[in-house]
Amino acid sequence: MTSRFYITTPIYYVNGAPHIGHAYTSIAADVIARFYRLSGYDVFFLTGTDEHGQKVEQAAKNAGLTPRVFADKVSADFRNMADVMHISYDAFIRTTDPYHITSAQALWRRVAEKGFIYLGAYEGWYCVRDECFYSENELVMTPEGERYAPTGASVEWLKEPSYFFRLSAFQDKLLDFYERHPDFLGPQGVRNEIVSFVKQGLKDLSISRTTFQWGIPVPDDEQHVMYVWFDALTNYLSALGYPHETDPRMAYWPAELHLVGKDIARFHAVYWPAFLMAAGIELPRKIFANGWWTVEGQKMSKSLGNVVNPYDLLQEFSLDSIRFFLLREVPFGGDSDLSRKALITRNNVELANDLGNLAQRTLSLVARNCGGLMPERGHKTEEDLKLLGQVNILPKLLELQLKRCALTDALEEVWKVIRAANVYITRQEPWALRKVDPVRMANVLGVLLEALRGIATVLQPFMPESMARLLDQLGVSDDERLFSALNTPIPAGRSLPAPQGLFPRYTE
Ligand code: MSP
Repeated sequence: MTSRFYITTPIYYVNGAPHIGHAYTSIAADVIARFYRLSGYDVFFLTGTDEHGQKVEQAAKNAGLTPRVFADKVSADFRNMADVMHISYDAFIRTTDPYHITSAQALWRRVAEKGFIYLGAYEGWYCVRDECFYSENELVMTPEGERYAPTGASVEWLKEPSYFFRLSAFQDKLLDFYERHPDFLGPQGVRNEIVSFVKQGLKDLSISRTTFQWGIPVPDDEQHVMYVWFDALTNYLSALGYPHETDPRMAYWPAELHLVGKDIARFHAVYWPAFLMAAGIELPRKIFANGWWTVEGQKMSKSLGNVVNPYDLLQEFSLDSIRFFLLREVPFGGDSDLSRKALITRNNVELANDLGNLAQRTLSLVARNCGGLMPERGHKTEEDLKLLGQVNILPKLLELQLKRCALTDALEEVWKVIRAANVYITRQEPWALRKVDPVRMANVLGVLLEALRGIATVLQPFMPESMARLLDQLGVSDDERLFSALNTPIPAGRSLPAPQGLFPRYTE
């Protein structure tokens, strides 16, 4: 039986246009989803939009539209961005979809039946931008006595009837769970923060609101709409057909990985596991938080007018150079800065020079000196075997790195081999062998073609489009692109198409 692998992105708020920060989490999840598919897993990859709540209601009002019309429009923008960025999702969920509404209500009922929901009144701070309740001691106070959320957003004082979730009952259970599952939450810094947040004590959580309308009605009490995070987190289950246990998609639960931004780690690592524990549902296996991007040294913000829209970036750079840059520039989990200069340097040095040139030199020598045919395999020297040995262990090495969400380290493993292949071609000088030892020349080119095939195969998840073109040029057919196919060499004599440049070079 093939193993299942369920991976999710956060669902994006439809309060504004998608930007490169949103694309980032989706690209990272896409790489992992594609990697596991190529490894032979049965993958289910979910993304979508988070459409309820006060923030979206306000954004719609500002745009002069009803929340429904506004949400339809922005959700379509997010879906389009996912398609343009080649995000290979299996399902795109919208929290306004009727099946999701039924599902969130079913989860609510289940938690209520178990005795973990009660009616009370909330009095305290709320931040609409973060859609988060903050306690007094989390707020930042200015010298003038104004209070702000720790994220810098403004807060308001709420006083309204509310249903509460007995979060306080889960403090010890959560701490115990984190301890027994050291890999549940990463990276380490986020894990430490979450553990100390829980250790400070968990208060019961307000999970309904009565002062606005745009939300899922609380079952049996239409005065209340659900707190948007109760609604939103349920998407990971509703997309699989919950509460219909017989739905075949339910077999994908528990999720292997919820990929999230570090700003929303608390909701995923504290509230979500507690809701699931309360409902008696198995917990996801892993939550990993990515860092944040600034742009040319500044936080992206509408007021600064520096929000990077992926479409603008695509006017100048290829999709794969953007995908590569985002995952290569900074160890996954850390924060980083997107600058034009850094993007150009990464592209020119590592894609155009290191990989593009290697492919171009090899393929044009094969076209010129081997009649454009896959050369005969011959005797292998120690150096040949060394390079091929490094290539052969790439799928295994990458799997180990991806298990820990170390996407940048995974790329570094591949680049070590690309650099080794460049040293190899320089030392072997196949261009000089044509006259003196054509058999050895053919062997060297054969080794390089095999190495390039391994490299292109494992890089497919990161750069699907350009690696598909490279595999075409290497004569690798569509059904020879899984990792398992690497065990079967491309037969000698196969005709290779005329070589073409892979990566453009950009100028500053
Ligand atoms: N709707 C919630 C998530 C609900 S999941 C059940 C939400 N939406 S969001 O649109 O505000 O953010 C979605 C994701 O985009 C988050 O993971 C967030 O970290 C990420 N990013 C938004 N801006 C970003 C950057 N500038 N850089 C990196 N990621 C950023 O939160």
